[in-house]
Order: sequence, then C-alpha cells, then structure tokens
Amino acid sequence: MPIKIDKKTGRITLKTRRTMYVMEMKYGKYPVHLYYGKLSPKADAEYKCPLYSFAPYYEEYGWEYFPDVVMSEYPFFGSGDFRASAMKLRHLGNGNDTTLFTFRSARKFRGRKALPGLPFAEADRHTETLELTLNDDVTGCLLKLYYTVFKDCDVISRYFILENKGDCAVRLEKTMMLALDIPKGDYDLLTFTGGHCCERSLQRTPVMRGNQSIFSRRGASSHHFNPFMMIADRKATEERGNAYGFNLVYSGSFLNEIETDQTGTTRVLTGLGSECFNWLLEPGESFTSPEAVMSFSSDGIGQVSRNMHRFVRNHILPPEPFENRPVVLNSWEAFYFNIDAKLMTEFAAEAAKCGMDTVVMDDGWFGKRVNDHAGLGDWYENPDRFPEGLKKFAEEVKAQGVKFGIWIEPEMVNPDSDLFRAHPEWCIRAPGRELMVSRSQLVLDMANGEVVEYLKRSFKKVFDGVPIDYFKWDMNRHMCEVGSPALPPERQGEVAYRYMLGVYELFRWFNEQYPNAMIENCSGGGGRYDLGMMKYSSQIWTSDNTGPVRRTYIQHGSSFGYPAAVMSCHVSNHHDACEDPRMREFLFRVALNGPLGYEFNIFKVSDDAKEAFKKQVAEFRRCEKLIMTGDLYRLLDPNKCGKYCYYFASENSKEILLTFAQNFDDPRRTVHKLKISKALQNAVYTDLLSGKEYSGEELRRGIEIESSEQGNYAMTLHLVRK
Ligand code: GLA
Repeated sequence: MPIKIDKKTGRITLKTRRTMYVMEMKYGKYPVHLYYGKLSPKADAEYKCPLYSFAPYYEEYGWEYFPDVVMSEYPFFGSGDFRASAMKLRHLGNGNDTTLFTFRSARKFRGRKALPGLPFAEADRHTETLELTLNDDVTGCLLKLYYTVFKDCDVISRYFILENKGDCAVRLEKTMMLALDIPKGDYDLLTFTGGHCCERSLQRTPVMRGNQSIFSRRGASSHHFNPFMMIADRKATEERGNAYGFNLVYSGSFLNEIETDQTGTTRVLTGLGSECFNWLLEPGESFTSPEAVMSFSSDGIGQVSRNMHRFVRNHILPPEPFENRPVVLNSWEAFYFNIDAKLMTEFAAEAAKCGMDTVVMDDGWFGKRVNDHAGLGDWYENPDRFPEGLKKFAEEVKAQGVKFGIWIEPEMVNPDSDLFRAHPEWCIRAPGRELMVSRSQLVLDMANGEVVEYLKRSFKKVFDGVPIDYFKWDMNRHMCEVGSPALPPERQGEVAYRYMLGVYELFRWFNEQYPNAMIENCSGGGGRYDLGMMKYSSQIWTSDNTGPVRRTYIQHGSSFGYPAAVMSCHVSNHHDACEDPRMREFLFRVALNGPLGYEFNIFKVSDDAKEAFKKQVAEFRRCEKLIMTGDLYRLLDPNKCGKYCYYFASENSKEILLTFAQNFDDPRRTVHKLKISKALQNAVYTDLLSGKEYSGEELRRGIEIESSEQGNYAMTLHLVRK
C-alpha cells in the first residue's frame, strides 16, 4: 500500500519503490513534515522542534511548537512562520492577509482525480492519492492538499484545490503547489540557466542561508530558466549521495524558491508565485492549482534524472501515434520563408530517397507570410504559393512516400494581418499603454474564450481533409503589458494563467481533432521545454542552435530533467556538414541523442552525402528504441572537459549505446577510462559498428576511449549482448 494513514497517531506515510515520505498532524491541527528519503526502517523520524526563543508561539503548546522553525508540510503567510510561504490569501471583507488553515481530515483513494483544464500526470494501476483537507474559520475556505504517489518512478506529485465556502470574496496572492523542508545539511542547487540558442545550461551552486530563486515572468517557462531543479548533497555525484528533483506540470510564468533558515533547514517551494499571478475567489467558487512533482534518490544525481525520465515517459507523454518517431526533413534552415508547393514536393521526393520519412513544411505557407513582418493569425494557405490548395499539395507530398508535417504558431498575431485589423482587442494589452512588438508580433489573448474558439474554427477550415501527420507548434515571443480586454478589472491578475488554460484547451482540441498526428513543440527552440507542453507534444524542438558543439551542452543539460524521447535532434547545414564527412559524422553522432531529423537544402548536397544520410537513418532506426526508452547514464560533463559521454542501457542490459563527443582539438590526446557499470559481468557484448567484442567485466572495469587530435569528433559503441 503506497499510502498509510494512522488515525491514532496522526501520522501519514507515503511509499514509492525506493523512497518514503512521512508527515504528522501535530496536536491534530498542524501538518508537520517528518521525513523524505530512502525507504528504510531507520526512517522512523520523530517530531522535533528546535528550541528557539525569539519567535511567536501558541500559549497552549508553549515552546514545543514554534511555527518559525518546525518543518512544515505547507507553510502559510503571516502566521508565525517568517520563512517563505506557500500560500497567502487575502480576505477581501476585512482586507487582512493573515493566512492559516488547520487540519480537518485525511483520506486516500486509488488513482487520481483529473485536473480540469490543466495537464497532469496519468495514473497507472499502482497510483494512489492522499487528500488532506484543511479549513480556515475566518475566511470560511477549505484547502485540499493532494499527494499522488507514482510508485514505479519514485515520484510524488502535489497540487491543491481551494474552495471558498465563506460568504466573502478572497484573493489568492501567493500560490505555491509544493513545499518541502529538507533537514540541515550542505547542499548544492542545480538549475538550468540560458537564453535563446543556449537553453538549459546546467548551473550548480551552493545553497546559502537566505533566499535563492529561479523564475519566469515571461508568460512561458522560458529559455532563461526552467521549472526543473535539483537539490543535492554538496558531495553528491552521478552515482552517489542524496538528491532531490523538482518540477512543475505547467508552461507559464513560475517561481521556485530555495530558502535556508537560521536552523539550517532548507525550504523548497515551487509554484506560480505572486508577481505574475493572483486569483479572485468569490463565495462558492473553487480554484484548482497546477501540479508539481518531486523525486528523491540516495543513489546520486543520475538516479533522480532517471526517475524523472521514467515519470515523463510513463505518466506525461501523449500516446504515440506512430510505431516509430518520424525522421523529419524540415524546410526552415533550407529555405526559411521561400517555399511553395513545387519546391516542397520536390523536397519530399529527395527526402524519401535518403530514408527520411517525414517532410515538415515550416513557416511561410499561409496568409501574407513571406517574411516575419506579416500574416501571423491568418490561417489560410497562400494562394500564390499553393495554387491548387493545401489538400492537393499535401496529398502530392505524401505520394512521394513520406509523412506530411506543417508549422503553426496559433498564439500570435502580426499587426500586419487581417486578424489584427479585424480584432485589435484580441491581443494581450494593458489599458493606455503602447504595444511593444517582438519579432514583429503580438500575443493573442488566449484568456479570451472567443479567441480560442476562433482559432479552432480557422484551423478546422484550413486543415479539414488535409492529410497531416505532424504539427510543429511554435511560440515566438514573451508577454509584456499583460492585460485582457475580455476580463474585468478585478480579474486582471489572472490573465497570464488564463492564457495558459486557453493554450492547453487548444492543444487538447488538436490532440482530439487530429488523433493520428503528433505535435512537435517549439518556442524559438526550447523556450517551453516543460512538462505541461510534454503532456500534449511527443517531442520538443530542443534549440534553434543546431551547431553540434553547443548542442552537446544543451543536450547534456536537458538530460538532467527530461528524457531523450522528447529531445528533437537535427543534423543541420552548419559548418558545411553535408560535404565534409568528418563533420557529417560529428553532427550525426551528436544528434543520436533523441528523435532524429534533418534540416538543410537537400538539393545542394552530393550523392555521397545522400548515401551517408541514408545510412545514418538506418543506424538510427537500429538504436531508436534504446534511445527512446533506455536508462541514461552520464559519464563525462562537457562543462568540465569539453567532452560529452553517456550511454543508454536497456532494462536488462541486453543492449547498450555509448556516445563520446569531443568539442575541441586535443593535441595531447587524452585517454578516458569509461566505466559502463550497467554491463553484465559475465556477458559478452559485440559492438555492431566495429564488430569488436568486449566482455562485460572489461566494460564494467572501464574501456579506454582516446580523444582525437582534431576537435569535432564523436564515436558510438552499439553493444549487443551475445
Ligand atoms: C522559430 C523556430 C524555428 C522556425 C522559425 C520559423 O524560430 O524555432 O525552428 O520554425 O521559428 O519562423
């Protein structure tokens, strides 16, 4: 049983395969946190309140319970806990923001409830959920905290429902879904930093006394930070030490706070924060928060990554519409906006000859979209470019023997478009403020249901009957001057959040309307690389930077929180890759880290290059399953040595795929001894690429891989057990 509620002691225990989480209802009132760590009998943690004199306490309980220093399950603002809070609620009758809910009841149930309008993790047959109900007599609100246990991947998720049962309106002013107090220790914080073209660069810094945060105020989870983060023992490595991972199943602005207090306890909070979100709750209304997730491992950082990978694959990603992931040839880096029916059909014919099975027509096919200044919002094919219509064109593309994919950017509008001219009030805007543009575009007000319905109608009109297998869904600017003409003044704090609900609604509509098509997500590359988007999109365009050197850093970083199965990796035209065999090889080996694709002008490459691409696709197909579902082990960190090395192992170690990629010239030719600890001791493995044999013992002890004198070098071992 994953969840045990002991009514007598007020203690509640949650168990996953290898972890345990314990809380207690102190005095039958206050949910205190006791333990989160490995599953072990020694984990029978007891309530302790560090003696402290300069803090408020309830006379009734004396110095046994100081809210400011106890480990709390879910801390409230203004009630004696001076650390960062998970919730601040303002009573709009008396104006006061003191927030306190106390325990009322606990129950558990099989599976989980759906989160209306939001993406959430799917249950399996082992999933159980704990519901803690808390209430507040002053506001009359009920707070239900949910803990869902995903046993298979050592993940516990958290979200809440707030119901206003009182007779006066309240406003949610700070909203965090997950709070975890971690006992005193020396910790590091691992986060993603970055920007456009350099997403998810891993940063590891010491956790200090005080408050640290990562966040987005951009209306998107962003290239700049990402909601995924880890807290790990200062000495934790890939294989050793305690590590905790956190993430949000949400794609908009967020706040993650890490705060270490006077006693050394580190509080982790993840949620919507207070700057970009508040919510009015009238009597009788309720609010359901998005979901947040956490995972723990005592076997190092690598295991937390693998837990998260498994969680995404088993509980987040949509069903696969195809047996294999499409190997795409995308038109963007080949032609940018200069496309038409004839060119794209010929492009498809060439793609098919090289073994690529899908052609994606990127930007430039609709409205007056011949550059990025016009046309967004006008979802009808450009008649000059597609004189016989989209349907006929798509059928011709498919007649070349490939699947057909198409680019869309539903959430945006160019001021130079029919849509904006007809509905200037349909974009996000603040009263009296000038509108700023970004890439010449404005953000549509997806918080307005009319806009979402209009988009459904226009896409239905243009796509009905067109045999589309693949959508590339882009989103190319961030939100400022946030306001919605469709919402009343008292609900303007809800705009960015309601925007996301509108976006999710449209994603669900696409998934339902086109069940046989898959969605590749994109936001100027990997600007919405998050669990919310992964719920509806099978893969995400990792970065607009397709240069292989930078990609090793981006892919290495991404692997900390997200599985290879979502990471679109394209071989592109950079550095004359197509004609230089060495570069071609380097690009391909670097790209062999997720669903494969290509992005260049195939008309300009030689027959030799085409032959090479055909072989690459065939090789990818041989190891695709392992990349999509295998367990990932990182061996070398490019941030430390300029070399990225990792391997995937199938569940029973029958198959192992190791990649070593080196970014720079190494005149000294360094030798790396790389231990493949997942290899089976007594087995013999054959490398499918060289035919060479290795004993399991030898692989476990470490094989030597020598760097190359020249940079831009990568090699792969595809080991199969005999
Ligand atoms: C974004 C995407 C690119 C491409 C262009 C099209 O920048 O990241 O891959 O689709 O938009 O305008």
